[in-house]
Amino acid sequence: MPLTVDLRSDTLTRPTPEMRAAMFAAELGDDVFGEDPTVNLLEAKVAALLGKEAGLFVPSGTMANQIAIRCTTQPGDEVILESGAHPFHYEAGGAAVISGVTLRLVPGNRGVLDPDMVRDAVRPPNVHHAPARLLSVENTANRGGGTVTPVATCAALTEVAHQAGLLAHLDGARLWNATVAVGAPPSAFTAGFDVVSVCFSKGLGAPVGSAVVGSARLIEHARRVRKMLGGGMRQAGVLAGACVYALDHHIGRLAEDHRRARTLWEGLTELGFSASAPETNMIYVEVPDAPKLASRLGQEGVRAIALAWARLRLVTHLDVDDAQIAAAIAAFGRVRG
Ligand SMILES: Cc1ncc(COP(=O)(O)O)c(C=O)c1O
Repeated sequence: MPLTVDLRSDTLTRPTPEMRAAMFAAELGDDVFGEDPTVNLLEAKVAALLGKEAGLFVPSGTMANQIAIRCTTQPGDEVILESGAHPFHYEAGGAAVISGVTLRLVPGNRGVLDPDMVRDAVRPPNVHHAPARLLSVENTANRGGGTVTPVATCAALTEVAHQAGLLAHLDGARLWNATVAVGAPPSAFTAGFDVVSVCFSKGLGAPVGSAVVGSARLIEHARRVRKMLGGGMRQAGVLAGACVYALDHHIGRLAEDHRRARTLWEGLTELGFSASAPETNMIYVEVPDAPKLASRLGQEGVRAIALAWARLRLVTHLDVDDAQIAAAIAAFGRVRG
């Protein structure tokens, strides 16, 4: 029986015994009263790490993004974002429902926005136009292939946004992967952004949890929006404990996921598969029939997602080791014909 290798997503990880111990030991209180010490610790820690005044613990990356959009726009405004951005593809149209905004998509290079194209996308004030109010940047870019928007490009993008009178949001669900990939601190990426979303439940391996980070004033507003959306949790420290553990112990190890993605990519390339070299923990393989290949791989014990008819996504994470990478390459070899 071959090893089962689940490469569908980095959200599939189960908490390690050490993380479970941290959850078990977490001091708890009612967070809606602001009295959960572990949540308070997490919020302070993530704000400091990202160089902002305050943070807010939320259940998911989707809620983090939606709160960020709601706190920075008015109904009728326009949000500019890259064509593959998560709030456009995967948030159930929430920006329209929760914030009443329209989305203007700008194509990027593997998910990375060009500041000049963003400048061009901001239309001059005119009675016909929805006023552009927010630029949202995803780093790393999931549909782009886990690609990194470099620190300098982040700075250029936020400068363009601010010059045009827009606020800037960073969807940093996988910002940790970007920081490890280029060896720059998270605060270098976040410096120009007014509001940032991050996730602890992707590469960092926590079972649940994301955060919104920004100025104290913005986070005060965000706390009310979180309550409105039903995201106020009570003894949430049992979850935040996992996230604190993840911040303390699981950022550096993302380098292993990146190394394994590289090994996997090299193996697939040698077998003749076509894929761009991974910058972080994702590989998108271009194939004629991705659902068919995913199904064949499934029979070989390897799980992957067909994100489009001709694109198969593979993601390395905490629960994938070197032996599983070797097993995955071998399985690709068997299904090649
Ligand atoms: C870039 C990005 N942003 C936001 C999210 C949403 O996170 P969640 O699944 O926790 O709602 C995801 C989920 O994979 C993501 O890839």
